[in-house]
Amino acid sequence: MGLTKLCLRLPWPRHRTRKASVVKSSPYDSQDSITIAEKPQYTGQPGNELTSERAGAICNKITETYSELLKLANYEPGEQINKLLGDLVPLCTQNLDREVVQQIVQSARVQEILPPLRDICSQAESCFESYSAAKIIGDGKDDPKTALERAKSFRYYSNYVELAWLELCGIQAAGRETPKRIAFIGSGPLPLTSLCLLQELKKEADNESDAQGIKVLNVDCDQAAIDISRAMCHAVGDWSKGMEFLCAEAGSPEVDLTEYDVVYMAALVGVSQEKKEEITLKVVNSMRPGSLLVVRSAAGIRTCLYIEFDIATDRLLEKLEPCLTLHPHNEVVNSVIIARVKI
Ligand SMILES: C[S@@+](CC[C@H](N)C(=O)[O-])C[C@H]1O[C@@H](n2cnc3c(N)ncnc32)[C@H](O)[C@@H]1O
Repeated sequence: MGLTKLCLRLPWPRHRTRKASVVKSSPYDSQDSITIAEKPQYTGQPGNELTSERAGAICNKITETYSELLKLANYEPGEQINKLLGDLVPLCTQNLDREVVQQIVQSARVQEILPPLRDICSQAESCFESYSAAKIIGDGKDDPKTALERAKSFRYYSNYVELAWLELCGIQAAGRETPKRIAFIGSGPLPLTSLCLLQELKKEADNESDAQGIKVLNVDCDQAAIDISRAMCHAVGDWSKGMEFLCAEAGSPEVDLTEYDVVYMAALVGVSQEKKEEITLKVVNSMRPGSLLVVRSAAGIRTCLYIEFDIATDRLLEKLEPCLTLHPHNEVVNSVIIARVKI
């Protein structure tokens, strides 16, 4: 499993022209689209001066893309959104001179649109995940082997495999042993990271009985995401044995994390440093001392897509010992932060 070559990436191919449509036979059709209730007004006012031509051109492209995204009626997969995000993601994952990156992310006009742009990307990601999960489920009548083939032939499957592998390497480096139980908070409608982690951990198990004990708990506050991800796991049969599900808010008292060796927090759990920090503190309070927290973050120009999370704040450092941070330099979007709950 994994995310495009190293971490999470938004799921849009560049210049994809085929119009994707929702699988109408799926019982989850209502989850495939999130209609925009309120659109922020974007005036496109020029911001601070950019000294680099390259930075200026990238800022223009980002703000133009945002203006185009605001015109869409919803964010379900389709020709226009695939093209817009399919261009935006590589734009925001390219390797650039540090100065150019700073000019882009600090520019007033980019700063102005970042929160709503990230929000659109997050809604579109949920739509795409629901759409893809429904495709894997199909009409629900196929045998598990066929559904599993569909899951493995999912366009970004190999990216999930790679990302999971990368994250597990980080986890093993920080924890010195292979975890047996993982909780993934914000697992979403398409829990491929969890499934990939499950397969990797089973491979590492010493014997069949240990393999049976490997568990990945998927936690999401959206009941529809839990329902479709559970249905997707049911569709692929025994391959998903060990996947568990819980609909709950991150950090809520009903989520007891004491039996988990590793707890993940998805990139989209908490949309600001303050909010993510608050959630993290609650999550950590229900974790076992010595266990590992894996938080997906972003760095550099990738922060146009996801927020950057700072784990080294006073109140987090009281509870957590940061171990390592991995920043991708390829098409992967997310950085990964690993920290140990203080004993
Ligand atoms: C679209 S999914 C994708 C996860 C993605 N692979 C990642 O790493 O961010 C993100 C999920 O996080 C869930 N989520 C966001 N905030 C949450 C919270 N406070 N508690 C539980 N789930 C949350 C959303 O419901 C959504 O299904």
